[in-house]
This record gives sequence, C-alpha cells and structure tokens, in this order.
Amino acid sequence: MTSDLPLPQKSLNTPLARLIAEQIQEAGPITFRDFVELALYHPELGYYNRSHTRLGKSGDFYTSSHVGPIFGWTIGRAIEKLLAAGEDSASGGQRGSKRPRQSVLIVEFGAGEGFLAKDVLEYFRHLNPSFFERIQYVIVEQSPALRRAQARLFDQHPDLQKRVRWCNVDDLEPFSGVVLANEFVDALPFHRVALTDDGYEEIFVDMSEGGFVEKLGMISSPRVDALIHEVEVEFDESWDGPWPVGQQMEISIDALDWIGSLAERMERGRVIIIDYGDTAGKLYGRDLTEGTVRAFFQHQISDRYYEHVGEQDLTADVNFSLLLKAAIEYGFEDPEFTTQADFLLENEVLKVVEDRERILHLSSGEARNARRQILNLTLPETMGTRFKVLTLKR
Ligand SMILES: C[S@@+](CC[C@H](N)C(=O)[O-])C[C@H]1O[C@@H](n2cnc3c(N)ncnc32)[C@H](O)[C@@H]1O
Repeated sequence: MTSDLPLPQKSLNTPLARLIAEQIQEAGPITFRDFVELALYHPELGYYNRSHTRLGKSGDFYTSSHVGPIFGWTIGRAIEKLLAAGEDSASGGQRGSKRPRQSVLIVEFGAGEGFLAKDVLEYFRHLNPSFFERIQYVIVEQSPALRRAQARLFDQHPDLQKRVRWCNVDDLEPFSGVVLANEFVDALPFHRVALTDDGYEEIFVDMSEGGFVEKLGMISSPRVDALIHEVEVEFDESWDGPWPVGQQMEISIDALDWIGSLAERMERGRVIIIDYGDTAGKLYGRDLTEGTVRAFFQHQISDRYYEHVGEQDLTADVNFSLLLKAAIEYGFEDPEFTTQADFLLENEVLKVVEDRERILHLSSGEARNARRQILNLTLPETMGTRFKVLTLKR
C-alpha cells in the first residue's frame, strides 16, 4: 500500500460499518469493489438485502420504473417489436414448424420492487392478450426482501401473477427469450483505479484512527489491469492526449461476468440493458477527476461512501464500451446502442400512451399524468440521455 488518499471518512455509524471495520482490522485492507459488495449485498445488513429496503420516492433513489407505468408499457412494446422481428429465434420455436405456438420467456434481472415486471405484463394483457397467455416472466432477484416486495405487488394483481415466477440464477436452465436488465448492471460491484505518477493503482479501503481510509495499492487482479489498458485508447482519443495524474475510473468485472454467465445460459433471443452510463471515452470529464462513483441517501447524491454503510446506495456509471466488447466476445450479435429517449421514441412511447388512454378509459387528469411521464423519461441531461439502452441479439 502507498499513501492515503485525501478525504479520509471515519464514520462507523452503522452495524455493517462496524462489521466491515472488524474484518479489515483482522485481515487487512479490502478493494473498493469488496467494500461495495458488502455494503450492498451483505446477506442481512447490505443495502439491497435489509428487511426494509428503500427505493422509490420515499427511499433513496428512483428508477424509470418508479416514474410510472409508461416506461414498462413502452418496454412491452419494444419486446413485442423485437419478437415480431425474430419471432422464431426468441420464442424457441423453429422456422416453418407446425407445432403450436410456444411460450415466450422474459427474464428480468434485478427487478427492484417489481414495477417494470408488472407494467410489461400489463401492457401485454391489455394490448396483446394472446401473447400475454404465452408469457412466462421469470424474475432473477438476489434479495429475499425485494423478492417479497415483488410478490406483494403481484398479490395485488392476481391476473398478472399467474405469468410470473422467481428463479435463482444458478437454477436458470438454458433458455431462449428476452432478457431485461433495468438499472441492474450499475448495481453490481466495481473496482476503482487511479492514474498516479507510478502508473495505474487501485483504491483499497483500510482503517486508520478508528475510521475508514482509502489507500492506493497495486492493481488487485490481472483482469482489472487488462481492462484498464483496453479502454485507455478511448480515453486518450477523447481527451486528446494522456490522462492527467490523479484521474480515477471504475472497472466492473462483475458486469462482464454477468454477460458471460448469460451467454452460457441463453440459446437464442434478445437482451435489453438499460442503465446510466456511456461509452468509455465519454464517461469521464475534466471536472470528474474522481470518476463517476457516488452514494445515494434519501435522494441526495454525495461522495461520502463510508457514511450510512448498508443504508445508502453506492453506484457508478456503466462503461458500455467494456460491456459491449465482452458481449461480442461471448457471441452476442447486432448490438444497438442509443439513449433512453431515442429508444422510447423509436418504440412509439406516444402511441403507447394513446393506446393506454383508450383501453383503460383514463380520465383527463390520468392522461395528463401519463404525458408528464414521457417528459420525465425523455428529458435531455436527465433520464432521457444520461440513460442508455444496449440491445443485443443471440
Ligand atoms: C437498482 S435496483 C434495480 C431496479 C429495478 N430494475 C427497477 O427498474 O426499478 C438493482 C436490483 O438488482 C438486484 N441485484 C443485484 N445484484 C444481483 C444479482 N447478482 N442477481 C440478481 N439480482 C441482483 C438488486 O437486489 C436490486 O433488485
């Protein structure tokens, strides 16, 4: 380990913070990635695994699915269009087959409170009932607390409930279908590295004077090292020269392993990944020397990663260059990368809103609300362009 970084942050004000501190005192510093894994996914005390997780308006952050049903309904339309374009490949049928039409599998990773699942299914129930009857919607969710929240949501929608089931990722049999991941990849742990006078070094979390401190040390694995150098070219191009000493960035091996494990299980179909982030060259700006890592606590964004440990979200922008490159290496094809605004507009969000108004006989107030949702989801500089959509074919 070399020098401490500035910003030592010393609060051990939660049980999880104290537990991680003990672990570091016993076994030595841990990578920031391992700190994130514990902070978010410790089985009982991690942010996503506490018995009472707080997403949405009354929680710490909200996602596009919390804006309202228009997001999920338009994703439903997108799935319908993707499947119409390659019906046989995604539903597991065979071209020219005379067999009855097969079920369609939709697999959602990291479903949060379950709103996207509910809204996608609602879209099909109202706008394509025969297709709805063929859907098996599988939720892969690591958090028992969130699985319970999702189940409670479907208890209120018995008509949709029969189409949903939950599955551990290890029990997911080889499948053909559609994979959905909305703000899933950004929730996976990530390494942090910094360019120093001695080259790239990794950020570790250690203890000093009774609190957490960040320390620089050797890059923890050859994979992280290789990935840094993979994206370096894009950085140099976009910065018109080498990076300044002190610049930090994030590398998520977990994201790449996820796309790899998907490739192992997925035979044919489509993947829709929605998340904030960008291609590598555009992720970091001169005013973002500390990279894109951030904490969310009660809708406040901060760099106080070591406060409220287990009670706040930690996240970083998705590096879509690395994700896409890995996807291609694992055999996915036809990548399309666009902003959330363009994706929703291309998938007829305006028409979806009209169809929904007509079919559900919405009041003028409800109709106005639906139109406001379009604005929220597509506004530039916020959800509309900060969020990107990567679609892949298998
Ligand atoms: C930011 S939330 C996603 C929100 C949700 N998709 C939405 O649209 O509101 C991240 C989700 O991913 C889940 N998650 C994280 N890692 C996971 C993993 N390895 N397998 C399954 N679910 C995971 C979390 O428990 C949480 O439900």
